[in-house]
Amino acid sequence: MLDLVQEIQHLKKEKNATILAHYYQEGDIQDLADFTGDSLKLARAAARVETETIVFCGVHFMAETAKMLNPRKRVLLPDLKAGCSLAESCPAKKLQRYQEMLRENGRRFQTVTYINSTAAVKALSDWVVTSGNAEEIIRRVPVDNEILFVPDRHLGQYLQEVTGRPMILWDGACIVHEIFSVRDLLELKKKVPGGITIAHPECPANIREHSDFIGGTEAMLKLVAEYAEPRDFLVATEANMLWQLQSKFPRHRYHPVPGISCACNKCPHMALNTLEKLRDCLASGTPEITWEPEFARAREVVERSLLN
Ligand code: 13P
Ligand code: SF4
Repeated sequence: MLDLVQEIQHLKKEKNATILAHYYQEGDIQDLADFTGDSLKLARAAARVETETIVFCGVHFMAETAKMLNPRKRVLLPDLKAGCSLAESCPAKKLQRYQEMLRENGRRFQTVTYINSTAAVKALSDWVVTSGNAEEIIRRVPVDNEILFVPDRHLGQYLQEVTGRPMILWDGACIVHEIFSVRDLLELKKKVPGGITIAHPECPANIREHSDFIGGTEAMLKLVAEYAEPRDFLVATEANMLWQLQSKFPRHRYHPVPGISCACNKCPHMALNTLEKLRDCLASGTPEITWEPEFARAREVVERSLLN
């Protein structure tokens, strides 16, 4: 393992690469990264990378976004099959047909799209949001327009509650956040009296309503930082986030909220990236995310939404 880590560090220098890693990657990958972050922070970091190569340890839509924002760089994804249940739930053709149907029915709307979507879907959108900036972007949508929010119905529901804007919701969900067990959360709360429950807004309403704080992964870190004295946090998001919380704020204790069929809830797509694949992709320069025609329009939407 030490050899593998050293090999990756050596290759990273030799190939003039920058490694970006999402908080849902295993700790040993996050440890090797030049930048770790939530989707928003990583997209912004990708736009500023100066080395020839970006290795994106995350899922496909994240690497695609990095390519859009920094097109002259070679963008590598250790496993090209690292997808996302949210992105899969919203094929571009289906969205386009739905938009046409709404227009034919005289509905005036703007499409607000969660970043967890393909470039082709982003290209059909007016705005792209992340968990870190969604409220702010929704406030930019003119009030005389309806909002079509895709693809995460739980995040959409949550945003309706906090912004007071009714939305037409696409029926997608994250397979990780959707399966937290309310019963086990309530059990855990009994076992950890005084614990603070923090939940990602991709969680369904029945988890959110038992939570003390709702926010994306970056917002969770910010919240935890505000507690100077050691506390217990019950964490309802992908389990690797606990590694990041633990390494930045070791004074606290963190308890994963279990999933319906698992003690700690990990994303199977993120898990496809391993140290071995990271080494291999640095060594071979593949698999690479190549520029696709729809990236040009998607890029405009992403830049307007995330960089300005
Ligand atoms: P954030 O890290 O942006 O909150 O996103 C969570 C997620 O599900 C990424 O796939
Ligand atoms: Fe997609 Fe959920 Fe995995 Fe994030 S955690 S990549 S939203 S499936």
